Amino acid sequence: MKRVPEPELMDEPDQARAYAEADFEQPNALFVDTFVRCFPNFNRGRLLDVGCGPADIPIRFARLYPALNVVAVDGAQSMITLADRAIERAGMATRISTLCWRIGQQPGPGVNQGPFDAVISNSLLHHLNAPETLWRAISLYAKIHAPVLVMDLRRPRSQHAANQIVEQYSGNEPEILKRDFYHSLLAAYREDEVQEQLIAAGLSHFNVGRISDRHLAVHGRLSAG
Ligand SMILES: C[S@@+](CC[C@H](N)C(=O)[O-])C[C@H]1O[C@@H](n2cnc3c(N)ncnc32)[C@H](O)[C@@H]1O
Repeated sequence: MKRVPEPELMDEPDQARAYAEADFEQPNALFVDTFVRCFPNFNRGRLLDVGCGPADIPIRFARLYPALNVVAVDGAQSMITLADRAIERAGMATRISTLCWRIGQQPGPGVNQGPFDAVISNSLLHHLNAPETLWRAISLYAKIHAPVLVMDLRRPRSQHAANQIVEQYSGNEPEILKRDFYHSLLAAYREDEVQEQLIAAGLSHFNVGRISDRHLAVHGRLSAG
């Protein structure tokens, strides 16, 4: 099935709210577990989360690593507003800062405080029609040898398969969320496409693998040069 792009930013307030209220316990726990498995010795420093959405993953990282500070960025102001509320509620405002920044555009001062000790991104890649912007941001803002983890959906073989995944995993969620999930599956990249992106970005030493029936993960450490 050919990739069908979806809008880049999730800036409609209703869409952002529905996303923030949805149950992402399983994929977000999978993201954190995968990071810990890939980088068992990592435990401190400054971490950049690109496309942080409502900041559930930054909060999980801050709780797991008491000596970690997080800069969480998203291009959608609606998401940043929700992220700020969640961070405040979690009592993490001293350790997680947010920034409205659309990668590919000139970054604000928080990002320029890099380079970072780790860079993560969950479920952003499929939004990008120019995926090289994510790989370029990682190369620019991660320190040499910094752990990098990018997780995303993988594009199913057909629209029928995408519909089945939506029903299986979000059958009881609101329509707006099911619609977004379906479009995200159609916009997702396949492993071979991600591998090509990594080669073009000079990151071919990163590892690409399937980590669930609907997710792929890319992990590696930034190398010099
Ligand atoms: C599906 S959400 C994932 C949010 C979060 N990482 C999570 O796992 O829950 C994708 C997020 O990426 C943001 N986004 C899309 N394109 C972006 C860009 N070019 N720069 C920064 N953020 C972007 C969207 O606004 C949205 O909040």
